[in-house]
Amino acid sequence: MARKLSRLALLALLPVSMLAACGDDPVSVAQAEAEPAAARGAMPLVVVHKTEACGCCEAWVTHMKRAGFPVEVRNVDNLDAIKERVGVPYAKGSCHTAEVGGYFVEGHVPADDVKRLLAEKPRVRGLTVPGMPAGSPGMEVPDGTVAPYDVELVAVDGSTAIYAHHGP
Ligand code: CU
Ligand code: CU
Repeated sequence: MARKLSRLALLALLPVSMLAACGDDPVSVAQAEAEPAAARGAMPLVVVHKTEACGCCEAWVTHMKRAGFPVEVRNVDNLDAIKERVGVPYAKGSCHTAEVGGYFVEGHVPADDVKRLLAEKPRVRGLTVPGMPAGSPGMEVPDGTVAPYDVELVAVDGSTAIYAHHGP
């Protein structure tokens, strides 16, 4: 319950303009799933857990596909159990939780950082971009602004360290 409340509190702090990007979006999941396997190459499958109405989640899925990843989308009502299972630390969550190559990828992490993680293969839980920073992949804003944000590496013990910095 405390986890859930903290994330709600976090969402409440986001500007309305950012939440608007995460509203209903009729991007077709069926279309995404119809992508031929032959077009996927050797990239590992990214399984994305999200809620059905999340538009910015779909935008991140599109970002990952453009970067060459095969993506499987799983719509769920409640992401809390998934975040707990994969080990997203308290207050480090975002709108969707992905799994790839034995790691979790939480939120709007750029595909290039995921590729770097998969190439370096550190012994960690995964990567997270907490919240939903404006200008991160899937959270683009019309004027092109990118708010400074960090991709955080989550160690096996749950501690975090900056993995990459984006924006000014
Ligand atoms: Cu989002
Ligand atoms: Cu999302």
